[in-house]
Amino acid sequence: MAAYLMNRVFVSSLMLSVMIGSLNAQVADIKAICGKAKNQSFCSSYMKSNPKTSGADLPTLANITFGSAQTSASEGFNRIQSLVKAATNPTLKKAYTSCVQHYKSAISSLNDAKQSLASGDGPGLNIKVSAAMEGPTTCEEDMANFKVDTSTMYNSGDFQNICGIVLVISNMM
Ligand SMILES: *[C@@H]1O[C@H](CO)[C@@H](O)[C@H](O)[C@H]1NC(C)=O
Ligand SMILES: *[C@@H]1O[C@H](CO)[C@@H](O)[C@H](O)[C@H]1NC(C)=O
Repeated sequence: MAAYLMNRVFVSSLMLSVMIGSLNAQVADIKAICGKAKNQSFCSSYMKSNPKTSGADLPTLANITFGSAQTSASEGFNRIQSLVKAATNPTLKKAYTSCVQHYKSAISSLNDAKQSLASGDGPGLNIKVSAAMEGPTTCEEDMANFKVDTSTMYNSGDFQNICGIVLVISNMM
């Protein structure tokens, strides 16, 4: 009888710790996240094209999407730098050169955001990623001011859309 009871206690405490364990690693609701994203169809296809997002908890998802934002910012930076080199039109060169600075500051804001991400500080992450998004936006405004048509050469849409997902996640942290 005593052994039976002990067994019962053991089994229920085992079940309890399994339940607590699964609470700690709760699978993030990707549908809910993408439902709040600025570009919902971008968000859904992004999640589908990244198998690691499936079954991930919120901190993992924050890490994955933040990593994509960093990659996208460096790609944008490299792209703009090669456009500066290739530009022969002085106005165009000037516009792209100012963009290089805006991308540098975006990358630096993302580097600051890493600390907030690591400590699970959602509001801090939100502020710093929002700041990072201003770089490419300012770049595009500059180019519009210089009246250069860059629609076929340059687009920061993916970067903005990925950052948009990070912002949604940061609001859930
Ligand atoms: C939203 O995402 C879709 C699919 O990735 C893309 O085709 C479209 O251009 C995006 N819209 C904006 C405003 O970024
Ligand atoms: C994010 O993932 C990378 C590896 O993919 C890892 O080195 C890093 O510690 C992770 N950061 C957080 C905050 O989980």
